[in-house]
Amino acid sequence: MNVYDSELVSTLLEKSGYTECKDLRDADAIFLNTCSIREKAEDTVNNRLTNFKHLKRKNPNLIIGVLGCMAQNLKNDLLESKPWVDVILGPDSYRRLPEILDERKNNLDHLVDTRLSRFEVYEDMFPNRRDGINAWISISRGCDKFCTFCIVPFTRGRERSRLIAGIISETKQAVADGFQEITLLGQNVNSFRTPEGDFPDLLKAVAAVKGVSRVRYTSPHPQDIDDRLLQVMKDHENICNHIHLPLQAGSDRILKRMNRTYSQKEFLNLAEKIRLYLPDCAISTDIIVGFPGETEEDFLQTLNVIRQVGFDSAFMFKYSSRPGTKAAEYTDQIPEDIKQSRLERLIELQKNVSLIANQKQIGNILQVIVEKESKKSTRQWAGRTEGNCWVVFDKGNEQINDIINIKITDARGITLFGERIYEEVQV
Ligand code: 5AD
Ligand code: SF4
Repeated sequence: MNVYDSELVSTLLEKSGYTECKDLRDADAIFLNTCSIREKAEDTVNNRLTNFKHLKRKNPNLIIGVLGCMAQNLKNDLLESKPWVDVILGPDSYRRLPEILDERKNNLDHLVDTRLSRFEVYEDMFPNRRDGINAWISISRGCDKFCTFCIVPFTRGRERSRLIAGIISETKQAVADGFQEITLLGQNVNSFRTPEGDFPDLLKAVAAVKGVSRVRYTSPHPQDIDDRLLQVMKDHENICNHIHLPLQAGSDRILKRMNRTYSQKEFLNLAEKIRLYLPDCAISTDIIVGFPGETEEDFLQTLNVIRQVGFDSAFMFKYSSRPGTKAAEYTDQIPEDIKQSRLERLIELQKNVSLIANQKQIGNILQVIVEKESKKSTRQWAGRTEGNCWVVFDKGNEQINDIINIKITDARGITLFGERIYEEVQV
């Protein structure tokens, strides 16, 4: 989401006559697009801002700006502790950026705008994208789910959807710019709702755009995955057989305290249903360990669900208390050493589960888009499967962006290895 927002911001600035420079020391203005999801993300931004203080000493006219969730969440803190920050803009205020930069020429006060909007979806602003295979397209903003650990509903405000027609125009533009993979983005993509239709309708419409080789979406909420969505995925070859399905925790007690609105059983049934509709569907997830009140027994339940579902991959986090959220007020916070050891145990298990899932692919022929040179060798390419798994293979006469068939010969860690299969031409 932040990559997309940064693309929006740089497009806005380019339209107003600014150009991007690669070296920070050459910049007249520096903007940090920030994230508040965990304390670690905020620490990273604070460290960078501290470094920028020296740049400002050398160039007093330099404008330093903080954008996004931290601007929303910590504006008073920032104004007090980092007085060299000039501009603070929340996620719904980016349109004001060119105007604010102009204003800054005559007004040296801090410029702050963190008002949240019920309507802003940056509808008519197509971002300039960087090179690559995949174009991110934001379809909705904000979130109304209020999971008790999560800061997003507070920093990004109420949920609102873009119009299908606007998303389709942006998809066509991305294809014309050479992108063949589209990833639809939202805090809760599948609660997308407009007078023109809901998420399955949108997915169908995007898949029908000429030149779109792959459609992905992230992240859905398990509660809102229905049969219609799975049927649309089944009916369209170019919608990837991959669902990122955040579990967060396996124990019913913790799921309830997290306000996730599903039970362990319901999640397991959903995973089963996904595989009934889409037998080869990759399923990935997000897990939080050390949520307030999580006992060893609760944690073991999480490990159990991971084993049962056999997730292809997982993003795994230690719970990070976010001031202002409900869970931050729970009195039974878990000590850091327990969180750390649970995270390590979880990572160890998931490593094996991913390896087992990947080993099942050995012998299969998978469709891969050639994406870049492999990090390890200039004689090999790396590309991604529909399930979003990296595959490394020897270079032949194919080029970046080609869609080819690869026979999987090995699986190591989270990477697959294979060789190109040339289709037999039937005469
Ligand atoms: N602590 C740890 N992880 C969090 N996430 C969201 N909020 C927190 C938090 N307070 C994780 C969830 C979510 C992912 C984007 O970030 O797993 O799905
Ligand atoms: Fe946060 Fe996702 Fe829950 Fe919304 S659905 S509150 S973004 S974790």
